Amino acid sequence: MSLKNDFPILKNNNNLVYLDSTASSQKPYYVIDWIKNYLENDYSNIHRWAYSLAEKSENFYEESKKKVAEFIACDNWREIIYTYNANYALNFIAWSLRKSDMLKKWDKVLLSIVEHHSNIVPWLILKDEIWIEIEYINIDKDYNLDLEDLKNKLDEKVKIVSITQVSNVTGQIFDLEEVWKIIKSFNHNVLFIVDASQSFPHFKVDIKKLNCDMMFFTAHKVMADSWLGVWWAKKELLETMKPIFSGGWAISWVKKLEYKENNSLPEKFELGTPNVTWAVSLLKALEYIEQIWGYRKIEEIEKELVAYTIKKWKEFIKKYEVKILWSLEKDNRVGVFSFVIPWIHSHDIADFLAEEWICIRAWQHCAEPFLESKSCTHTCRMSLYIYNDKSDIDRFFEVLEKAINDLK
Ligand SMILES: Cc1ncc(COP(=O)(O)O)c(C=O)c1O
Repeated sequence: MSLKNDFPILKNNNNLVYLDSTASSQKPYYVIDWIKNYLENDYSNIHRWAYSLAEKSENFYEESKKKVAEFIACDNWREIIYTYNANYALNFIAWSLRKSDMLKKWDKVLLSIVEHHSNIVPWLILKDEIWIEIEYINIDKDYNLDLEDLKNKLDEKVKIVSITQVSNVTGQIFDLEEVWKIIKSFNHNVLFIVDASQSFPHFKVDIKKLNCDMMFFTAHKVMADSWLGVWWAKKELLETMKPIFSGGWAISWVKKLEYKENNSLPEKFELGTPNVTWAVSLLKALEYIEQIWGYRKIEEIEKELVAYTIKKWKEFIKKYEVKILWSLEKDNRVGVFSFVIPWIHSHDIADFLAEEWICIRAWQHCAEPFLESKSCTHTCRMSLYIYNDKSDIDRFFEVLEKAINDLK
């Protein structure tokens, strides 16, 4: 049975075909109702409270962290820090590492060429500010991370390796356990950071299996509201790192000319009044996943949708010249397909589809270095999530065919 009816925007707009979940997912009634319920009945400021309403809010906030911890197999919810999104998380991480002298002049950060800009720009800022070096791990002809290249680029200057678990352009899942083994066998002190923004919505992200030192993701892609990011790091690291910003609950006391930081976790890294409503939205999004039988169900739905989409693409490319980034034969993927119709601009395709209420995304998907490495300036990207069904995919191909015929 389709989950569309759980999502008001899809239930109330029969003609809407939403194929842009890689950018942001839609929200189920369960999340929306709980946000409303929280704001109507339980809202208050948290921390330093004496009244029960605030206690309720505090509980929601903690419950949200505990649920995230449970989802990522983390034993201590105090290691979960809330930020605004993945971009903020990474900026915060990069600058805090720098402030803590864990990243110094001439140190090297290794990224992969497929990274989203959010895992590139904070390091580029540090490159300009304090002269760190940045190198990119290439991908091989099958778009896999080139592990030989990783081995060659690992030298004593490398302090951080930061990599996405899933590409937001191709949907390819990378074997990060293998990457971890290589990094740690070279030098156990290199920090391994994982961007789980595109994996967390689709399958279980297990920090123990990944063996990473830090992980972050953005909540709006997993049915929670926008402007909430999750950053997890090992306790020893959080204890060592100095926050780049401070204030509010992150402070123990303030005198006229000095202040003392609150070193307890997670308060140390969460300055000012937190947005409990976002935390509630993430808690309820994760509960919704549990209600539909968890990631097992998500993977089952997506597997079927991906197989159907691949079948349709194969039929389509027999008729029309279409370049699809990455292979249609691999199954280490989630439902993301980037494509180029060589003689039509991707914006024109997206506009044409938009006229028919089909939502896809066009341009560089915040992954310019990757597209450049594939000699591509822009692509269209259609992406699937649990609320899509075969009728969405049929409609997409029907209108794409019309676009190709009309725009030529
Ligand atoms: C892999 C990946 N990382 C990070 C981000 C950034 O997320 P946000 O814009 O919420 O910070 C995205 C967003 O598309 C992404 O796909």
